[in-house]
Amino acid sequence: MEKDRVYIFDTTLRDGEQVPGCQLNTVEKIQVAQALESLGVDVIESGFPISSPGDFNSVIEISKAVTWPTICALSRAVEKDIDCAAEALRFAKHRRIHTGIGTSDSHIRYKFNSTREEIIERAVKAVKYARNLVDEVEFYAEDAGRTDNEYLARVVEAVIKAGATVINIPDTTGYCLPEEYGAKIKYLCEHVDNIDKAILSTHCHNDLGMATANTMAGLLNGARQCEVTINGVGERAGNTALEEIAMILSSHKDISLATNINTQKIYPMSRMVSNLMNMPVQPNKAIVGRNAFAHSSGIHQDGVLKNVQTYEIIDPKDIGLDTNSIVLTARSGRAALKYRLESLGVAVQGEQLDKLYQEFLKLADKKKEVGDDDILLLAGVHTAQERHIKVDWLQATSCIGMKPVASVGLDIAGEKFEAAATGNGPVDAAINAIRQIIKRHINLTEYTIQGVTKGSDDTCKVHMQVECDGRLHYGLGMSTDIVTASIDAYVDCLNKINNV
Ligand code: KIV
Ligand code: ZN
Repeated sequence: MEKDRVYIFDTTLRDGEQVPGCQLNTVEKIQVAQALESLGVDVIESGFPISSPGDFNSVIEISKAVTWPTICALSRAVEKDIDCAAEALRFAKHRRIHTGIGTSDSHIRYKFNSTREEIIERAVKAVKYARNLVDEVEFYAEDAGRTDNEYLARVVEAVIKAGATVINIPDTTGYCLPEEYGAKIKYLCEHVDNIDKAILSTHCHNDLGMATANTMAGLLNGARQCEVTINGVGERAGNTALEEIAMILSSHKDISLATNINTQKIYPMSRMVSNLMNMPVQPNKAIVGRNAFAHSSGIHQDGVLKNVQTYEIIDPKDIGLDTNSIVLTARSGRAALKYRLESLGVAVQGEQLDKLYQEFLKLADKKKEVGDDDILLLAGVHTAQERHIKVDWLQATSCIGMKPVASVGLDIAGEKFEAAATGNGPVDAAINAIRQIIKRHINLTEYTIQGVTKGSDDTCKVHMQVECDGRLHYGLGMSTDIVTASIDAYVDCLNKINNV
């Protein structure tokens, strides 16, 4: 049976990157974009160029670095935004402008203080303007999930007539029920006269945990593009997870829809994005969570040992999770590290490889076997920006019957500082010592420690969030020592605060 193609539009670098704390620098964005290309996505939404010079520049650099996927840039239905998007896309081999406007009554009334007719006019004008600059124009009807279907159909028909080639129907607030969202797509397929001239796209948010179900309902009712992010990262509760849609379509042979995703690259891609964005993957996350393939109950283990199909609907190898993959040790050479990283989708060479190899050797000295998660984590931490605050040394004690103490030496832009403090544990004591040096009011608002693999010699990964002057900053640390990893993450946060 010939399957219909579903185009995967990845918005990790736009909707995903909008999340506070998930911001990436241009080098990191290029790394993600190249990995998305080798994963097989069709469209990469690379940014919102008018929003900042950084975003503008990243769209330019991603356009240069990627060959096959279409590079898309977001804009409002405003000429200066559209000009800016077209300018940022000038080096892309295949380019698309994604422009649009809110169509629900609440957006029309409260956001635009406008009328339904005026919104159609503005939408049409923006699409025509964009079509003069690029061949592919995608229109988004923001809050389409809460827009009445009859009016939505009128908007869609008008923008297709104006030249839109793809129509995005976002459930911006994640409110729709799957049946309702599917019916909306069906309604558009049946009531928009020129619907065959454009591709309908889903864009679902996960506020009520229905993003994947809604996306599937949209695809089963006629949408042929879906907008997704790696690990489901995105505003608030996130967007539809790419890996979930890819694996639903590849495991349900009865559904006559297929993507171009090379599913064996899903797991490394997920880990890369999690590490670079400082966004841990919840252990029970479908497809890519640490426990997704862990059978812990006796009945399940017994069944799986007799025949894996009893409880496992996906072979972990199909998502690139090879439990027998080669582990690296202190005796592994630079070439082995490079080869393993490349097979995980991370390209490193020259000086970057040398530095990474030195870090790898340090880790391999402390840990007998270094697995994929460890080296992806090393690669992620390694690409982080140069730090002007560094930890020279750290000593912390964990005690029973005495108060834990810590002393720390910091190098701040070449100047040396030392301090000691007590705390309710070694991490608290070390942070108190740092607070004596950095005399700013900094609140620790989130602190997560995660073991990477297993064993008491495991690497641990710490995600931290601090608040300073009303702004949030995120940090990542890793080490085989939980105090060191925690302080590394804290200092990573400090490096992101202005004038510390
Ligand atoms: O959720 C949404 O409506 C969006 C649009 C800007 C496409 O992200
Ligand atoms: Zn969105």
